Amino acid sequence: MGIAEDIAGPDGWEAALAALAWQLDCGVTEALSDLPVNRYEAAPPPPLPEARPARAAPQGGPSGDRPGDRQAAPAYAPAPAAVDAVAVARGMAARAATLDDLREAVHGFDLCELKKGARNTVFCDGNPRARVLVLGEAPGREEDLEGRPFVGEAGRLLDRMFAAIGLSRTSPDAERALYITNVMFWRPPGNRDPSPEEIAMMRPFVARHIELADPEAVVVMGNTPLDALCGRRGILRARGNWVEALGKPVLPMTHPAYLLRNPLAKRDAWSDLLSLKARLDGGAG
Ligand code: URA
Repeated sequence: MGIAEDIAGPDGWEAALAALAWQLDCGVTEALSDLPVNRYEAAPPPPLPEARPARAAPQGGPSGDRPGDRQAAPAYAPAPAAVDAVAVARGMAARAATLDDLREAVHGFDLCELKKGARNTVFCDGNPRARVLVLGEAPGREEDLEGRPFVGEAGRLLDRMFAAIGLSRTSPDAERALYITNVMFWRPPGNRDPSPEEIAMMRPFVARHIELADPEAVVVMGNTPLDALCGRRGILRARGNWVEALGKPVLPMTHPAYLLRNPLAKRDAWSDLLSLKARLDGGAG
C-alpha cells in the first residue's frame, strides 16, 4: 500500500507521522514550500481553450451571436477580491507610535505567507538608541530558531566587522551601539530571496521602523534592503556610495554572507566601514 492510501485511511495521522519520521531519517531538515502541498490531492489545471481557426464575422449580426462563437466560460471560479496587503501594512505601521507598538503590529500582521512557515518573528536586536541602524535581508535558519537577527555565521562576521570600528549591538552606550533589523521578519523557505510582493508589504514597516528608531545613518546590507529603501538592486555597484532614503544617509554594503563566500570582497567592505566611521566622526564619509 502506498503512502497516499495509508494517509487516506482512519489511521491517517499515524501514517503521516511515520512518513515525516522517514523523511527526517533521510536527512530532510527544511520545508521548501511556503505551504505544505498534498500532490496526491492537487486538482489538475483547467483545460486550455480549444484552438479554433479565425472566422470572419457573420453577415447581419455581431460576431459572437451564434452558439459556438462564444468563448467557453473558464472552468474555474474567479478569485475573491484580494486584500491589499500593502495598504493594510501601511495602516498598521502608521498607527505604531513607538517601537514596541511596531513590534506588536508586525506580530499581528498575518498577510505575509512567510509567517505561516516561520518559528519566530524576528524583529530586532541591539540598542534602539544607536546612531547606526543595520538593515539586513531576512532571517535564516538560526535567526528563525532564536528569534534574533544575524545570529548565525554571517551575523558573527557582522559583529566582528562593526567591532573593528568600535560599534557593537551589545553596547548600552548609544555612541558605540548598533541597532539591527531586517526587511523581512520571517524566514523565507530554503533561504530563497523574498519576492517583490513580499518586500512591498514589508516596506511600510521598514520605513516606520527607521522613522521611530531615528538613527543618524542606515547601513543596508545586500540587495533586498537596497531594494526596500532605494527601489533598486545591484549591491555590488551601489556599495560604498552614500545615498539618501527616508531623509537618512544610507550606506549600501555587501552582505556578510557574500563576504564569507567571497573573502576578497572584504577589502571593499573595510573601506565602506571606514567611510561609515568617518561620517560618524564628523567627516563626510
Ligand atoms: N542574513 C540577514 O540578512 N539577516 C539575518 O538576520 C541573518 C542573515
